[in-house]
Amino acid sequence: MIPSPLPGAPQLAYRGDALHLEDVSLSDLATVHGTPLYVYSKASMLAALGAYQRGFARRDVQICYAMKANSTLGVLQVFARAGCGFDIVSAGELRRVLAAGGDASKVIFSGVGKTRAEMREALAAGIGCFNVESEAEIDVLDEVARAVGGTAPVSIRVNPNVDPKTHPYISTGLKDNKFGIAHERAVAVYRHAASLPGLKVVGIDCHIGSQITDETPYLDAMDRVLDLVAAIEAAGIPLHHIDFGGGLGIDYRGDKPPSADALWKRLLAKLDARGYGGRKLLVEPGRSLVGNAGVCLTEVLYDKPGEHKNFCIVDAAMNDLPRPAMYEAYHAIVPLVLPAADAPIVTVDVVGPVCESGDWLGRDRQLAVRPGDRLAVLSAGAYCMSMASNYNSRGRGAEVLVDGAASHLIRARESAEDQMRGEKLPG
Ligand code: LLP
Repeated sequence: MIPSPLPGAPQLAYRGDALHLEDVSLSDLATVHGTPLYVYSKASMLAALGAYQRGFARRDVQICYAMKANSTLGVLQVFARAGCGFDIVSAGELRRVLAAGGDASKVIFSGVGKTRAEMREALAAGIGCFNVESEAEIDVLDEVARAVGGTAPVSIRVNPNVDPKTHPYISTGLKDNKFGIAHERAVAVYRHAASLPGLKVVGIDCHIGSQITDETPYLDAMDRVLDLVAAIEAAGIPLHHIDFGGGLGIDYRGDKPPSADALWKRLLAKLDARGYGGRKLLVEPGRSLVGNAGVCLTEVLYDKPGEHKNFCIVDAAMNDLPRPAMYEAYHAIVPLVLPAADAPIVTVDVVGPVCESGDWLGRDRQLAVRPGDRLAVLSAGAYCMSMASNYNSRGRGAEVLVDGAASHLIRARESAEDQMRGEKLPG
């Protein structure tokens, strides 16, 4: 019923019967700030980053946190202060990096649909690299850079056609995906990019998918990318850096991904064996830095026993935690206060108030809960708040960052007025 170890341990643990994140009681936080409430552990984020840093000790590496996983300013500041760069996919994300004190020169800009305005803004900010995803984008970026009298640093995202063995919606490196440039076209496209006066070729990148729990696809993708590096450099185009993307998975339900340092030990050995060990590396981890650093707290509103199913209706919904509805994803759900040993356990579907049958957070869970009890949805640090919406005109939840025994409200709960700001009645 309660997973052991808890995803998020050791920072997430029961002390007595009360669930704590670091030294803070989550029930206390829910009482002070209300629910739904996202709570993140700074120590957990830094520990996850530490695994990458250990893996890369004494190497020339820039870790660019893929902020689409969680783009809240208070979270970005933790990574900016720890020396991270950022992988962004929009001008909005760039503004957030700058507002959080991030360094523009450590920003890389990914994504298949950058607009001209976004390119101009990123050039003006002096970002480190554009990860270009199509032949058409290369020409547009060249034109935009020349128009402002600048040169855009570029890396081309190649598609290694490797199956990451993850959910189809979060595979990105297969031939059928919209991302990157086909392996077979890469050398020709590099030749073209190198001939354009508005561009300076600086690197190569790939990203094969997300929530990858097996190291084989990474090793295969690295081989494919290094084959291309050799071919591109043989064509006279030097590559300053190699970017291996993100994608490392986390434990949602007993998943056992390799740790970042174990994975990189294997990858660096391959890099060394193939003679590229001294090359500057970039990585773009998102989920593995924040996913298990966060939980989402919710209160039970109603019990709804039924003939076939019992429902436990809570105050968080698919607008707050979209992953189950979108990917049938599993998030562990545990009580903030352990129930008495003799409390009756019931099998329930944990569902939200949104008017959709797809609005469920967990199916067939064994819980002993009553209205007014509070629950934590675990592994909610990545792709939860950043994908939250206002569907059903529900305000997005508040967010708190805990640091030891201290807690900081890093985002206020969104009010109805916040939601309506910017709207106008036509008459
Ligand atoms: N770099 C690029 C170019 C990406 O497209 C992504 C994620 C990342 C880095 C970070 O990948 P990560 O380390 O977080 O796996 N919403 C989905 C995940 C979508 C991932 C999209 N790209 C989910 O909730 O599972």
